[in-house]
Amino acid sequence: MFCQAPLNSSIQTPPLASQLNPSAQGLQIFQYDLVQNKSLGVAKLLLSALAKAGAAGISNVPGLSELRTRYIQEALAFSRLPQIIKLQNAPTDEGPWGFLGYAQGGDQFLYEGTWYVDKSKNSFYATIPDRSENRWPQQTSLKSAFLDLGEKVSEVGQAALHLIGLVGPGTQIPTLEGVSQVGRMLYYSECDPKDPNKFWCSEHVGHSLGGMLIKPAYFKEGKEVEEPPEAGLFVKVDGQYRKFQVKEDTLLLQVGEAAQLILNDTVRATWHRVDKPSDTKSLERFNFAFFFKPPMDTRIHSNSELTNDSRFVDTGSGCVYEDWHKASLARYLNKQN
Ligand SMILES: [Fe+2]
Repeated sequence: MFCQAPLNSSIQTPPLASQLNPSAQGLQIFQYDLVQNKSLGVAKLLLSALAKAGAAGISNVPGLSELRTRYIQEALAFSRLPQIIKLQNAPTDEGPWGFLGYAQGGDQFLYEGTWYVDKSKNSFYATIPDRSENRWPQQTSLKSAFLDLGEKVSEVGQAALHLIGLVGPGTQIPTLEGVSQVGRMLYYSECDPKDPNKFWCSEHVGHSLGGMLIKPAYFKEGKEVEEPPEAGLFVKVDGQYRKFQVKEDTLLLQVGEAAQLILNDTVRATWHRVDKPSDTKSLERFNFAFFFKPPMDTRIHSNSELTNDSRFVDTGSGCVYEDWHKASLARYLNKQN
């Protein structure tokens, strides 16, 4: 079922060990030029990494460090705008694109019967490519920095999705051309010590094809600082949460449930969370997330174990992605009351 995208069968030699970097935490890193080159050997290794850890790094992405630096500066500038200005770009809540814009406060995740609220998480959502419904602030240059970074992330991610046979001719998603994907500025503000939620971002799993993340940036009293060892992204591997970090020129690809469905459990959706620092005073965190989804009318055919999930409704001609999407939002992101 997978690996139906055309692969360059003349290049089947797995990359040298030095071209991969199995880090101490179990995160495997693949050079971007190897991902671009449709080699069956690299495809197998990437699928293997995504099956094991649900995530993999893609390194040496040309221009990424510079795009990231400019984006972080603009994200920081946006976060410093008065709240009343930021709220001018709040979501309209109207229509399918009503979630775009600045969202104060965090998601609410229902997990194993308990609601977890991410109070210190703020977001700015926009589509890539740009749409008229995007709610860009006029007071900063966030728009160009966001879109330029997003286009690069989209390019790299699509190369990876084609490589593993998730997208491309002969697969269930022939192309992502013309599909509006979603980018998210993530801004984690200083934590409230009284907040019962011990995470900046609670444990969750993505329901779309997958997500891409850049290296986050941390600021303390206006100065950029290193990520505290106990804080940051943690990914569940073999039942245990492990810290995953990437460099400035590297993107982290995370598997979502729709990918697991389409690839029939060949890859595994990634449970992940963002841990708070032990000293929460004045520490802020910025990141950029990009989410890949198929066209809403895509019909997913699968024999994955996720087909047992009540969100997967197949009346004989596959589960319509839009139905899966709406059922997932209802499960994970519903309001508490
Ligand atoms: Fe996530």
